[in-house]
Amino acid sequence: MLVDTHCHIESDNYNDKDDVIKRAFNNNVKILIINGYDKKSNKEAIETANKYENIYATIGYHPSEADKIAIDDLKLLEEQLMMNKVIGIGEIGLDYYWTNENKDIQKELFIKQILLANKYNKNIIVHSRDAIEDTYEILKKYKKESVKGILHNYSSSLEMAEKFIKLGMLFGIGGVVTFKNNKIIEVIKKISMEYIVLETDSPYLTPDPYRGKKNEPFYLNLIANKLAETKAKDVNEVCEITSRNAVTLFDLNYKI
Ligand code: NI
Repeated sequence: MLVDTHCHIESDNYNDKDDVIKRAFNNNVKILIINGYDKKSNKEAIETANKYENIYATIGYHPSEADKIAIDDLKLLEEQLMMNKVIGIGEIGLDYYWTNENKDIQKELFIKQILLANKYNKNIIVHSRDAIEDTYEILKKYKKESVKGILHNYSSSLEMAEKFIKLGMLFGIGGVVTFKNNKIIEVIKKISMEYIVLETDSPYLTPDPYRGKKNEPFYLNLIANKLAETKAKDVNEVCEITSRNAVTLFDLNYKI
């Protein structure tokens, strides 16, 4: 079995959403965690999670939303957090790749959502692009110890990874590991399996040999295969450990 800890299965991305879900469930992927990132996708993630037993939602406002989010939007997020099947806050974080002109606004939004995670004991799913130092400093300062989470599409150094492990963070590994000449594979080799979960980030970051096409959760099998090769482990063991890590992190009711 596999758990896709990070995907964006919504009608704006797929006009055959239910088929995409079915294909995943028929191909070894047993649990999907749909990550919202704005008001619309949060709402749809909750609706989809309510429709399928083994789909869960995390909700939050992505850093690209930072300039648009008002107090009322955070109140709405807080109300939605109480809903059944909402298991975490994310994707939230910092993204200085697209713009670093609103760093302070991004940081403020990130911190407010971490404080909500603290208040409601929800784990977090964190996006960090070209902002790893600030991400670390904010998590270290504001996240309470019992709140854990995933650094989605981890792409930084081993040294930083060790610091994040001390904060209770796991690493989301996705399609990038299958790309030619990717730099993260050497880091992953040295990270213990107990800190790794798998993700597709569908519809983005499609693994090789389908890079360029639209990603889907059932391609998670290709990522598991690559991780098994990288770690010189049996693929079934990789599936079992990464699934157990995800189920334990979110305290999901699923026997592995
Ligand atoms: Ni994402």
